[in-house]
Order: sequence, then C-alpha cells, then structure tokens
Amino acid sequence: MSVGIVGVGSYLPHKILTNFDLEKMVDTSNEWIRTRTGISERRIVDDDVNISDIAVEAAKKALLNAGLEIKDIDLIILATCSPEMVMPSTSCLVQKKLGAKTIPAFDMLAGCTGLIYAITTGAQFIETGMYKKVLVIGADALSRHLDWTDRATCVLFGDGAGAVVLGEVEDGYGILSNYLAATGAGAELLRIPAGGSGMPATEESFEKKLHCIQMSGGEVFKFASRALPQATKAVLKRANLTLADVKYIIPHQANIRILETAAKKLGVDFNKLIKNIDKYGNTSTASIAIALDELQRANKIHEGDILLLVGFGAGLTWGANVIKWGGNKKNR
Ligand code: ACO
Repeated sequence: MSVGIVGVGSYLPHKILTNFDLEKMVDTSNEWIRTRTGISERRIVDDDVNISDIAVEAAKKALLNAGLEIKDIDLIILATCSPEMVMPSTSCLVQKKLGAKTIPAFDMLAGCTGLIYAITTGAQFIETGMYKKVLVIGADALSRHLDWTDRATCVLFGDGAGAVVLGEVEDGYGILSNYLAATGAGAELLRIPAGGSGMPATEESFEKKLHCIQMSGGEVFKFASRALPQATKAVLKRANLTLADVKYIIPHQANIRILETAAKKLGVDFNKLIKNIDKYGNTSTASIAIALDELQRANKIHEGDILLLVGFGAGLTWGANVIKWGGNKKNR
C-alpha cells in the first residue's frame, strides 16, 4: 500500500516581532540577525493563546484541504518541543478542541525533527492497515521558552503550526522512503533543562531561567550542516533516486547559513531548497509543514513531483522523507 499526504494546512499567529523590535529589547541589530541567520521577523502567540489553539487552526486547514472532516480521522500525532503542559499530552487537548470523541492521540517529542518522525510513524499505522487517515501536526510556541535577555537565542525562534493528513494514495505515489536518526550524545547542546521531572520548577530554576532554551549555537550549527546533507543522501538512496529527481527540498528552517552550507555540501542549486525563515524564524516542528503549505497554496507543487522533507533538532535528532506528490483521486 502507498501512503501519502492528502491534505496540508498551516497557521501563523498574527502578531509580528521584527528585528527592529528586538533591537529595542536586547543588545542586537537587524544587520546582525539578517546576516547571521536570514531572519527578518517572526510571529509570536498572544498571551491568551496556547499551542493547542494554533495546532487546531492548522489541523482544520489541513482537513479542509484534504476534503475531510475530523470524523474521518483515526489517529492524531502532534509533534512539539513546547507541549502545553507536561501532562496531559497536547494532542489530547487538540483532539477535544477538534471535536473528536475517542480517537487515539499522542505527542511526538523528537526536537525540531518531530514532524518527520510523526509522518514516518503515522504512515506505518496506515501501511499496516490499522488506520486509514492520520492527522499529523507540528506546533510550537518556543517564544514561551525564550530568555528575552539572551540575544544568542531569543532572536532565532518564532511560533507557528502546520499539519498534514496522511492517507492511502495510488500505487507509486506518496512516501517513497524514510530516514530517522538520533544521538543522545548531543543532548546537552540544545535543551530546556527545567520543568520536567528531572528538574521540577523551583524558585531557583526560575531565577536561573532554566525553563528557557539553552543552546550551544556553534555546535548545533556544525551538527545541522552535517545532518541535513547526510539525511538527504540516505533517504534518497533508500528511494533509489538522486538529487536530480527532486523538485524541492523542504528543510527545517533554523538558519539560512545552515541551508547554504548544506546546499554546497550536496552540490545542489540553492533554489531547490525552500526558504521562508525570513518571515517566521525557526518555528521548530512546524517549519516544514508551513513551508509545504505555502508551496502548495502558491500552486508550485504538481502531481508526480518528488519532494524531500528534511529536519534536524534537539535530541539530537535528524531525519527525512521522500514523497511523490499526488496520486490522491479524491482530492487532487
Ligand atoms: N546580536 C548581536 N550579536 C550577537 C547576537 C545577536 N543576536 N548573538 C550573538 N552575538 C554575538 C556573540 O556574542 C559573539 O560576540 P563575540 O564575538 O564578541 O563573543 C558574536 O556575535 C558571534 O557569535 P557566534 O555565536 O559565534 O555567532 P554565529 O555566527 O555562530 O551565529 C547562531 C550564532 C546564529 C546562533 C548560529 O550559531 C546558529 O544558527 N546556530 C544553529 C542554531 C540552530 O539551528 N538552532 C536550532 C536547531 S534545532 C531546532 O530547531 C530546535
């Protein structure tokens, strides 16, 4: 059986935080942020909005795009790095808000590679015949975990959500190969140390800002610049394809210079890599789905196009999917 993406949607909060706004908050400059990261602005959720809210908005759009309703969905997997709370899972909050009664729902914690892990996992449920339609969401509000006095991290991230619906497609279409990897040896390079059972919230953890993102930027940069090309090559090999077959590489949007370095290593035209980091910053698990949705809405993806989705993030984790777009009789 072939499993593919039969619907896609995304949601960005309306509030825009520009580099010029950040100049007034922290010792940085538009020039530094633009040249070092490629980011001009990012979206930030309002105080009364949670990630389950933005996840629901993205999910509704993906369902609409698929021509489906929530009653048609058998399973929800929500990838995130900023769950609404430790317990229950954010996916259960989303399930309720979408009006689903008892379908299973679980969170996928795989850093910014979460969407790739979730697509790969969701597809297995369909391939085994256990479920027919799976809703996969990537949603993050990492603005809630930023130390707004730490210029090395607070300029990088933005909030957003993206979603895809997975379902059976015609033979030869859909997901052609998957590649997943992780190395806990790099766990300390990118983390939010407090808030879990290892370091519950205390006055001290609050004062030391241990609920905020800590990152060894240079090390993560080196890792990402290696992981992206490696996952790209590995997933293409599994699909028995080459870069020449790929219409678009849709990478996780973390830093434009990571994408430039990866494109050079791969020897691929930079235009083949989809970029929207200038508008949204790093939206973590949402970035790939947001970029995919924008491409589709711009009518830039056509039946039979080969897309390569590739991510990397905390864990450390990395992974990729190769997808032959289309083959969905009902929807396209
Ligand atoms: N504004 C101005 N100056 C800054 C800022 C800022 N916002 N941030 C850092 N600097 C300064 C530093 O203090 C340093 O100054 P110094 O030389 O006087 O000590 C100088 O700029 C250079 O700092 P570097 O850290 O060497 O800058 P670099 O070019 O490496 O860029 C960055 C830093 C953007 C964080 C880069 O390392 C990076 O993008 N790393 C990867 C980040 C990433 O991808 N994270 C997420 C991946 S996974 C996920 O998505 C969860």
